[in-house]
Amino acid sequence: VRAREPGNRFEKNFPFAAKGGEDKINREFKIKTAERPAGPQIKYRLPRRARQREERTAMEHKKKISVAIDGPSGAGKSTLARAAAKELGLLYVDTGAIYRTVTLYVLRRGAEPKDAAAVAALLPEAGITMDYDPGGLQRMYLNGEDVTDQIRSQEVSMAASAAASHPAVRAFLLEMQRDMAKKRSVVMDGRDIGTVVLPEADVKIFLTASSEARARRRWLELQQRGVSGDFDQLLRETRERDENDMNRAAAPLRPAADAITLDTTKINFQESLARLIEIIRERTGL
Ligand code: DC
Repeated sequence: VRAREPGNRFEKNFPFAAKGGEDKINREFKIKTAERPAGPQIKYRLPRRARQREERTAMEHKKKISVAIDGPSGAGKSTLARAAAKELGLLYVDTGAIYRTVTLYVLRRGAEPKDAAAVAALLPEAGITMDYDPGGLQRMYLNGEDVTDQIRSQEVSMAASAAASHPAVRAFLLEMQRDMAKKRSVVMDGRDIGTVVLPEADVKIFLTASSEARARRRWLELQQRGVSGDFDQLLRETRERDENDMNRAAAPLRPAADAITLDTTKINFQESLARLIEIIRERTGL
């Protein structure tokens, strides 16, 4: 591990880190470039209507727009972010789905998601691609197989929280995420979008809700799918994932200094969406 030299690639990517104070993120990226496998591929098989809408938005604003949405699991980020992106003519990027796909590969290979070395060794073989279906939904592929639905299992959820804690995994996915925001106007959701992936995003939102409210929503969602869930267990798992995501050394979940916090504990979906769109419009002039 080399000491960080001023003006190197790391500092170009993380201008805020060069100013100091981002020790944890510095630690994360003291990975030698040679040790980093090339990141996954993205294919933009965007439906024509969505592409036209997004191009119009970018043209009207004469630049690419990026909206970063971070927050704990189960705060409704993906449903809200997707709906807001659609309304505003932006591309929705669910980065959690990308971490989940890496995790599914790790599980399938029988590796322990907590084992940093075992997970890192598998990355070069994990053929991850994504595209968008005609309905505008992001689909994930693992070595060519569509795994969009499989990555939603509770097993993958728990394992993803562990796998995503490894710096090698985060470094592996970083360029892919940045590249999308360079090429398209995006609403990107995750845990470290405002702090690490897109520190220059036009708007940063920290979307949160109490752990009880999040576990209750998950319980209802399961019920609607005809699956009975144990509320206490869901609450425990929600808290365990928060604990993992917030306390890891590499790019922990936390609001960016300039993020706007939107707490949805006491408001319903429609109210949350209206508020989210309002914040984005205010900040971007969309
Ligand atoms: O948003 P999600 O629940 O689908 O994310 C799955 C896991 O991936 C979650 O436990 C944290 C991790 N993740 C992350 O560390 N960074 C991101 N940008 C997105 C997800």
